[in-house]
Amino acid sequence: MAGTTRRGFIAGGAAATALTGCGGLSGGETDATRLDTDSFGLTSVRAGETMFAFEPARPEPVPVWAYDGSVPGRGVRVTQGRTVRRKFINRLPEPSTIHWHGMRIDNAMDGVAGMTQDPVPPGGEFTYRFVAKDAGTFWYHPHTDATLSQLGRGLSAPLIVRETTPPDTDADLSLLINGFDFDAAGQIIDPQTGGARTARLLTINGAAPFQWRTKRGERLRLRLINGTVGQVLTLALQGMTGTLVARDGMPLATPQRGETVTLAPAQRADFLADITEDDGGQAAITGGGQRLAVLPVSGIRTRAQRPTPAPLPPNPMPALDLANAQRVSLRMEGGQVGGLTSALVRGEGRLGRDALAERGLAWTINGWAGMPEAPEFTASRGETVRITIVNANPVPHAMHVHGHHFREVGAGGLGPWLDTILIGANARAEIALNADNPGMWMLHCHMLEHHAQGMMTMFRVLA
Ligand code: C2O
Ligand code: CU
Repeated sequence: MAGTTRRGFIAGGAAATALTGCGGLSGGETDATRLDTDSFGLTSVRAGETMFAFEPARPEPVPVWAYDGSVPGRGVRVTQGRTVRRKFINRLPEPSTIHWHGMRIDNAMDGVAGMTQDPVPPGGEFTYRFVAKDAGTFWYHPHTDATLSQLGRGLSAPLIVRETTPPDTDADLSLLINGFDFDAAGQIIDPQTGGARTARLLTINGAAPFQWRTKRGERLRLRLINGTVGQVLTLALQGMTGTLVARDGMPLATPQRGETVTLAPAQRADFLADITEDDGGQAAITGGGQRLAVLPVSGIRTRAQRPTPAPLPPNPMPALDLANAQRVSLRMEGGQVGGLTSALVRGEGRLGRDALAERGLAWTINGWAGMPEAPEFTASRGETVRITIVNANPVPHAMHVHGHHFREVGAGGLGPWLDTILIGANARAEIALNADNPGMWMLHCHMLEHHAQGMMTMFRVLA
């Protein structure tokens, strides 16, 4: 359990709070004007190459790309309503940015290279500053033409916004899942260039498996984040009873009892989990055919049992006006099986199969491979938009909207607020959002290979 203490600091809410004393803020979190220096005392995020070992499964350090020297990065923890300010320092050999996934923030801080900002060159810096208006579980990662490669080599980190009055738990764990392929020499394979893989490893907070010591009767908050580049994961909690309290950062109005959840790439789920495993046993989290986390149970929590988890306090979500909504439809085509014969490419007109293949393009939204020349739709500020997404492929996609959360419009009513939705093979879904955040925003597949191969579009919200 050598890794537990160090990674506990990365993951543990209690541990993070303990660090507050050396971070300059002594628990004075009521002052909303203070920056989030309670978050490890850091004011920057530095991306660079380093060596990292995925212990205990792979004790040999391998070259990775990392935020602040670890995979995943230590991340940002801030209390709702506070301002996050982080100077991004790029020590990578190529341009990068930071996208704060799921955060409903100003367009200029969204981190999309070539759209909301210029890419930050090697050696360059960019200061991000935004208000954390929603409490919940978020994360960050690069957002350039090379997102697949950069995230796939290790660049991701949790962004945790705590409620001003968090639920009563014994530990608050952010659990960021990454997936890595290794070659015969034991090196990570860059998913953008590929190569012969010999092994695939899923990690939580850079460990395989992640370990956390607990007690029977303890209540843990588990903030699960699917940070893989393209793997849908069905996660199961063992040796504990679970209550799902939030999806994609947003509290569920009605928490759901249960111990499993399916997360598309980029999706998150918050559970409140009560350890039921006997003293001396092991609770666990499984997914993707692996034991992702083991929680050795030693001892019994003696204090009074807690009541059934209550809903988390709601975030300030806008209303949806379905009756007067603008209606839009997006059709996704392409892929290996879909076999595009031609597509529109920005600045180049219609290209045939070979020209598309040369450019690495294989997927389209409404006929465009890659970004269209004009926004797919424009909404006035505060307008509700209903988007029908049609998946004309035999593979699923994980569609992510920037700057906004949306709800699925289903037969049984509106689903939970999400920022990413899994759309099954040859399926369709209708989502509704309130276009309340001005700017040009991206909408794309978060299976990053599809993203790299053109499955993206954009929309504008007027000021
Ligand atoms: Cu998590 Cu467009 O990204
Ligand atoms: Cu996709």
